[in-house]
Amino acid sequence: MIEEARVRVPDQAQKTLKKPVVNTLLNCAGEIMGKGLFGKKLEKALAWNRAENVVISSGIAYNLKKEKKYLDIGSGPGHIGQLLRRMGFDITSCDPFVKPFASVRKEQQSEGSLSLLSEAQHLPFKIDFFEGAMVNFVLHHIPPQDWLIVFDEIERVIKPGGRLILIEDVPLEAGDRATSIWDNWTNGEIFNLLKNLIFRGKASQNLEIKQPILSLIAAGMISDLHLTDDQWKQIFEEKKWELVESKEFFSHDPVTKKDIRHEKFVLRMPN
Ligand SMILES: C[S@@+](CC[C@H](N)C(=O)[O-])C[C@H]1O[C@@H](n2cnc3c(N)ncnc32)[C@H](O)[C@@H]1O
Repeated sequence: MIEEARVRVPDQAQKTLKKPVVNTLLNCAGEIMGKGLFGKKLEKALAWNRAENVVISSGIAYNLKKEKKYLDIGSGPGHIGQLLRRMGFDITSCDPFVKPFASVRKEQQSEGSLSLLSEAQHLPFKIDFFEGAMVNFVLHHIPPQDWLIVFDEIERVIKPGGRLILIEDVPLEAGDRATSIWDNWTNGEIFNLLKNLIFRGKASQNLEIKQPILSLIAAGMISDLHLTDDQWKQIFEEKKWELVESKEFFSHDPVTKKDIRHEKFVLRMPN
C-alpha cells in the first residue's frame, strides 16, 4: 500500500524533528498538560467538539461508502478520521507536522488503522489506491505554488471516478479573513493568532479573477487562500472535477466571537 520512496516531510517539519532536546521538553510539557484535568478538558473542548461539529454539520459520512478505503490528507491530530472510523469507515490519515493525539493513537493501534507523517505534495501511496480522499481545512496552509502538485497527487491516489471531499473556510466576500483559533493552534502559529486578533475582520485581499485562477495560484499571485465559492468553482472547472455536492455549515470561534463559514465540496474525479 505504501511507497516508501515517496514519503517526504517538508523542511520546516524536518527542522523541528532535528531539535530533539527542545522537542523532548515540549513533548513533556504537552504530556503533562494533556494528562492534567485542564489538558483533558482543553483537548475535549477544542478537538473532539470541533470534530463532532464538522462531521455532523458537513454530513461527510453520507459521502463515504463502507468497505472502501479513504485518505484523510492533512489530518492534524486525527479526530475527524477517528470519528468516521468509529462509524465504520476505513480511513488512513497523513499529516507532515502533527502526529495523532495519544487518545487517537491508542484507538488506531487497537484497530490496526494507519497514520503517516507525510505531506500532500508527496503522498506515499500507490496510484488509484483510494476510493476517495478528504482534505479538510488544509489547502490554505499549503503554499499556493504547490497547489497544482497537490491536486495531481490527489488525482493520482484516488481511483478514476472516485470522490474528493474538500472542506475549507469559505468567506462570502473575497479577502474576508475567516480563520478560527483552531487553525492557529493546530499549526502552532501563535504569531498568526495574535495577528488575527489585531487585524480580524479586515479584508486583506480583494481579488477580481480575469485569468485562469490556477495559473494565478501557481504563480503565487494569490497569497490569501481563503477563496470564495466562485473562486473554488472556477478551480474545479479548470481541473475538470465535477462538483456533485456543496454544503455550507458553520462553527463558532470563541476568540473572535464570530461564526466561521465553512463549505464542503464533493468532487468527482475524472475517468
Ligand atoms: C487546520 S489543520 C486541519 C486538521 C484536520 N484536517 C482537521 O480538520 O481537524 C491544517 C492541517 O494541515 C496540515 N498541513 C500543513 N501543510 C501541509 C502539507 N503540505 N500537506 C499536508 N498537510 C499539511 C497541518 O499540519 C495541519 O494539521
